[in-house]
Amino acid sequence: MSSHEQNWWIFLDAWSSAIKNKNFDQFDVNKLITDLDLDINLVHEFINYFRDDFSFTKNIIISICMGASCRSKGNEQVFSRLEDANKSRIPERQLQVKPVLCLSECNQAPCSMNGPKLQTGDDLSWVDRIVKE
Ligand code: FES
Repeated sequence: MSSHEQNWWIFLDAWSSAIKNKNFDQFDVNKLITDLDLDINLVHEFINYFRDDFSFTKNIIISICMGASCRSKGNEQVFSRLEDANKSRIPERQLQVKPVLCLSECNQAPCSMNGPKLQTGDDLSWVDRIVKE
C-alpha cells in the first residue's frame, strides 16, 4: 500500500469516527487535507457525496469566508443573514456562525463551510435551508 493510500485510510478512519461519535463539528477536514497531503477537491467531493446520508445539523459550525473575493460576492450579507436568524432562535437552536479567512477556493466565490461541507457559488439555497430549520 502506498503512503498516499495509507493517508486516505487515515482520513477515512477519522471521518467515520466523527460520524460514529457524532462530533463532526470537531472534524477538522482542512487540517487533515494539509497533514495528509490529500487532494482538496477529492476530499470535498467525497464528503459532499455522503453528506445527505448523515445528519450533521446539530452543533455544526458555519464558517463564512471573508476573503476579498467572497466578500465582493456577498458573503457579508450571508453572514448577517445567519446572525440575524439567531435573534429569533432559542439558545439551544442558535447557529454557530463565524467569519474565516480565505478558503482557497476564490474562483468559486462566494464560499463557506457548512460544517465539513464546502459551499460554493451563487446558489445560496443552503442558507435558505439553514435559516428555515
Ligand atoms: S476569498 Fe473566499 S475562498 Fe478565497
